[in-house]
Amino acid sequence: MPVFSSVSRLAAMALAAALLAAPARAGTLYDDLGGRAGVQRIADGMLQRALSDPRIKDKFQDADIERLQGLLMLDFCKLAGGPCRYPGRDMATAHADLNLAPRHFNAIVEDLQDSMQAEGIPFRTQNRLLALLAPMHRDIVAPPGAKPEATP
Ligand code: HEM
Repeated sequence: MPVFSSVSRLAAMALAAALLAAPARAGTLYDDLGGRAGVQRIADGMLQRALSDPRIKDKFQDADIERLQGLLMLDFCKLAGGPCRYPGRDMATAHADLNLAPRHFNAIVEDLQDSMQAEGIPFRTQNRLLALLAPMHRDIVAPPGAKPEATP
């Protein structure tokens, strides 16, 4: 009996340890980016870099930067699997009047990479966020010569 109970206690402890460790090991991207505070710093870092990036800063001339700052963080949080609701406009609508080309998109992605690098985010984790943003390209970048409204 003592053998059995110590074995089952060990089993219970192992199970508890596994359950406790599971969320950390499974790690949503949101967790791996440092949770809310980490995602906020990454989004802020990207925006600050974009605002002084000679390749794209003019595009932000008429934007409400404080609002954009809040929405960017919520967008990244939700995309990364965090507990956030994104209340902003969809990507196509938000960027429709900006006439963005692939080079603008690439510039902001570089600014995001620099921001994540500065936060010490490992490349593998950086790439997980970039992979989620890549499909937005088709909504954000205007087809050359096409009116955004004409895009289905
Ligand atoms: C993966 C790339 C991008 C993401 C995830 C992203 C995300 C966002 C989000 C969440 C908003 C707020 C939507 C709203 O206003 O309701 C927004 C707006 C905006 N974005 Fe982007 N964006 C991206 C690329 C770009 C690029 C390449 C530029 C310009 C170079 C840009 C310039 C702007 C501007 C100026 C606004 C504000 C528009 C306005 O206030 O009317 N974005 N973006």
